[in-house]
Amino acid sequence: MTETSKPVLFSGMQPSADSLQLGNYIGALSQWTKMQEDYDAFFCVVNLHAITVPQDPAGLVARTRRTAAQYIAAGIDPAKSTLFVQSHVSAHAELAWVLNTLTGFGEAGRMTQFKDKSQKQGTDTASVGLFTYPILMAADILLYQAASVPVGEDQRQHVELTRDLANRFNSRFGDTFLVPEAHISKGTAKVYDLQVPTAKMSKSAESDAGLVNVLDPANVTKKKIMRAVTDDEGVVRFDRETKPGVSNLLTIYSVLSGQSVDSVVAEYDGRGYGDLKKGLVEVVEGSLAPVRERTEELLSDPAELDRLLAQGAERANEVAGRTLDLVYERIGLMR
Ligand code: TYM
Repeated sequence: MTETSKPVLFSGMQPSADSLQLGNYIGALSQWTKMQEDYDAFFCVVNLHAITVPQDPAGLVARTRRTAAQYIAAGIDPAKSTLFVQSHVSAHAELAWVLNTLTGFGEAGRMTQFKDKSQKQGTDTASVGLFTYPILMAADILLYQAASVPVGEDQRQHVELTRDLANRFNSRFGDTFLVPEAHISKGTAKVYDLQVPTAKMSKSAESDAGLVNVLDPANVTKKKIMRAVTDDEGVVRFDRETKPGVSNLLTIYSVLSGQSVDSVVAEYDGRGYGDLKKGLVEVVEGSLAPVRERTEELLSDPAELDRLLAQGAERANEVAGRTLDLVYERIGLMR
């Protein structure tokens, strides 16, 4: 990979499930594949973040490879973008430590995702790692001098914290970090659970029924879509407030088919929700089937996948190492 003058993009996903879910695919991955053409892009499998909640060691290795395979299967091109695993680049943990010392306890405590997750786990059993999770995320982004961070809505506050930390470091120690911007596409910022369409689709949802997994067989996904919660009105139209279920189906349909929501609504004018769901099953299958097949292919050759990841790690180490050297020099840490 040669050096380019393109602005840098950084993003990542946790390898915490056997499959990515449709929210990851629509909110992040589909944006990444579009943006990789215009940016010097770094896509990371954030396994250090994953261990902030308990993980089975063998499972974590397998899921790390599976997540990387899904990035490539969905269109991330390792010849264009730098695809790597977080634990291959020790600078992430090192910069996170430095940033920990610049973050206020109260500031970290205001992160809503930490509040939600620690409440679910019981505040006493939640790890300190879960508390400092957003600071590791800031380190990820700042090491690469990223200008843009494409994420779903749930990560907005973490990118805000990253900006605050970059500004704080720069004003204390001199200009060191580029201050990044979150890139959150309006239409795709939040995909909702098919059963509870007011809650975001998430692998940690209480029930699996509203969760569409990228790697699930077609019949499983079909069943979930056909059983998705709608409303009693019986009219296909978009209204997030009063018709969250139908609006969510329309959003997914629109993003995956490349049609506007209005044109999907026009297409289903005068038809029932059953028809909309059947159409959506086809659209979802059309998008996910190739990703599933390509993921299986990639996983059948783990040596090649590991070679691609090692290649990505080499470039990531170079770029991250440069930033970390500068940081250590600025704050007076002997090398
Ligand atoms: P994670 O692994 O929870 O999710 C990965 C990406 O998917 C997006 N996403 C969604 N978007 C729309 N609708 C949904 N229902 C939905 N569910 C998930 C997330 O917003 C995210 O963009 N902390 C991050 C990982 C991370 C990271 C980073 C991201 C670590 N370091 C640096 C960007 C830059 C996380 O847990 O994502």
